[in-house]
Amino acid sequence: MNKTLKFIGLLLLLVFVVMQFVRPEKNKGGTEGITAFKNDTKPSEEVFMVLKQNCFDCHSDSTKYPWYAEIAPISYWLADHVKEAKGDFNMSAWETYSTKKKDHKLEELIEEVEEGEMPLESYAWIHGKLSKEDQEKLIQWANLARIQYQDELKVSYK
Ligand code: HEC
Repeated sequence: MNKTLKFIGLLLLLVFVVMQFVRPEKNKGGTEGITAFKNDTKPSEEVFMVLKQNCFDCHSDSTKYPWYAEIAPISYWLADHVKEAKGDFNMSAWETYSTKKKDHKLEELIEEVEEGEMPLESYAWIHGKLSKEDQEKLIQWANLARIQYQDELKVSYK
């Protein structure tokens, strides 16, 4: 190996090692928010499990981290996904959403699930995609919950 290559190799190694000391904050809030979400949208035990296993890692305050989440730059990449996902749709923050926003988020959920856009491809690649049945369960549950929100909205517009 020539000297320049060796130097670049060492430099990259050093950068990688230093990176390991910069740890993004973990998404480890409590689960109270989820209880509120559950009471509000009333998922069946089955639907709740689908959400828990496929969505909570990014769309709630409580991520279950795999071992490789400890390694930078993967840790940065995951933290970024969670931040972006929670900014759009956070089931742990459900109580803070207006009825209109809740209804709209469920509308988007139905769209994303119908189009097979969620969970994110990189996540589905490791954890598996939603089955057709799971997709249908989510859509049915979300439609039902939306009826309740739309009734509330009608009342408030009178
Ligand atoms: C690996 C992280 C990850 C997982 C797991 C995941 N999402 Fe997402 N989700 C995102 C990101 C990032 C965005 C925002 C960017 C985009 O739309 O691609 C998003 C956007 C959304 C939106 C759009 C919200 C809006 O305001 O437009 C909905 C709804 C949604 N996800 C639902 C789900 C559902 C339902 C599941 C489980 C079946 C799920 N997501 C699983 C990362 C994730």
